[in-house]
Amino acid sequence: MHKRSERLNFAIRLSTQSIKQVTSQNMLLLNQHTNYRGPLDASDADNLSVAAAREVERFLGYRDGHKETPLISLTGLAGEIGVSSIHVKDEGRRLDLGSFKALGGSYAVIRILLEEASRQFSRDVGVSELHTPEVKAVAAGMTICCATDGNHGRSVAYGAQLVGAQCAIFVHSGVSRERIAAIARFGAQILRVEGNYDDSVAEATRVAAEQGWTLVSDTSWPGYVRIPGLVMQRYTPLLSEALRQLPERPTHVFVQSGVGGIAAAVAGHLSVLLGHDRPFFTVVDPSRAACLFESARVGHPVKVAHAQSTVMAMLECYEPSLIAWRVLSRAADAFMTVDDEDAINAMKRLANPTDGDLAVVAGESGGVGLAALLKAASDPDVRAKIGLRADARVFLINTEGATDPRLYEQLVGFTPAHVSAKNLKLRKNMSTG
Ligand SMILES: Cc1ncc(COP(=O)(O)O)c(C=O)c1O
Repeated sequence: MHKRSERLNFAIRLSTQSIKQVTSQNMLLLNQHTNYRGPLDASDADNLSVAAAREVERFLGYRDGHKETPLISLTGLAGEIGVSSIHVKDEGRRLDLGSFKALGGSYAVIRILLEEASRQFSRDVGVSELHTPEVKAVAAGMTICCATDGNHGRSVAYGAQLVGAQCAIFVHSGVSRERIAAIARFGAQILRVEGNYDDSVAEATRVAAEQGWTLVSDTSWPGYVRIPGLVMQRYTPLLSEALRQLPERPTHVFVQSGVGGIAAAVAGHLSVLLGHDRPFFTVVDPSRAACLFESARVGHPVKVAHAQSTVMAMLECYEPSLIAWRVLSRAADAFMTVDDEDAINAMKRLANPTDGDLAVVAGESGGVGLAALLKAASDPDVRAKIGLRADARVFLINTEGATDPRLYEQLVGFTPAHVSAKNLKLRKNMSTG
């Protein structure tokens, strides 16, 4: 079992001094890693393969009330910033859990339970048997746990409740009351940890080993890759859906990163599907927790120092996931940082759209892909470096809705319900106009 010291060995701690203030001159790094554009590691290619993604979608079909999330075209905004199109996949509506994380944690829980049942019954146990008394009895004997910034824990707690397992979620000091309440609603025991996300991961790992609990982490390190790999794999349906919904393949994709799981799932799956014809892929970090950006700068995974907290709470991770880095060092084309005001500005832009565009309710970490696009589009040098021309077709993911509604209202000036209601009016006008 993984130990805290291994995590610390894996990370090369940068001194606060060595992390330069990220300014507009160094907000973009083109990928210069020696592995860049090389084939994915065989295990990652397998994990993110077309067959695996199909299997995940089949699995998802078993979830009551599952439906595709909408893809929203921001035609007005595209015209305003001088690109051909902008499409946003709205994961705020995923499985009523408020974020794309609904796909990963809960489905990893189901898969782990089925594996355990298969082991105990010495035969293959399929998802159709999930609610049989025998499988429920196996679940009742398991305790699932994880550390979270909010969304992953909510998904894991939901999955544990669905299958009837015990659940313990470790939350650090920065997780808001609203987000904790949203996890506790699924019957999970909440365990508080002093410190940041990385501290809560270390504590969850320690307690899981001590108590024999099953740790369903969304981040990975040497010796602990299989379950985070499953979590990452389970994000692929959002891309499969988007590729069916998009009128044309995108030329540019911007995806926000915490430990890098969602960015790696999307970049890796695009690379498996499209090879060198894939879109230009930019990974976006908050400038105050830029662990992927700094890893790209030095050429290997690094732990960055914790200075000031960022408003992009779900992205506040100081150390990349090992498997995410392995994929992104090959399949990402650029790394960018955005500041807190960029993220808030993007939330506001999505809530108060250009005439004719639909409004999108995006949480503090949800609109970060758009924040990066707006920043890149306004800088001719960056535009040239990433080839963002007038014919660019941009794909973004709103990774979360208003998962902390009170904070959303404070930052945007309207309630999430008020913003959603704008679309009803717009749709009504369109149908009567
Ligand atoms: C809303 C949201 N966006 C993006 C991310 C980043 O995902 P990852 O940590 O896989 O990079 C998270 C992680 O919790 C999240 O909750």
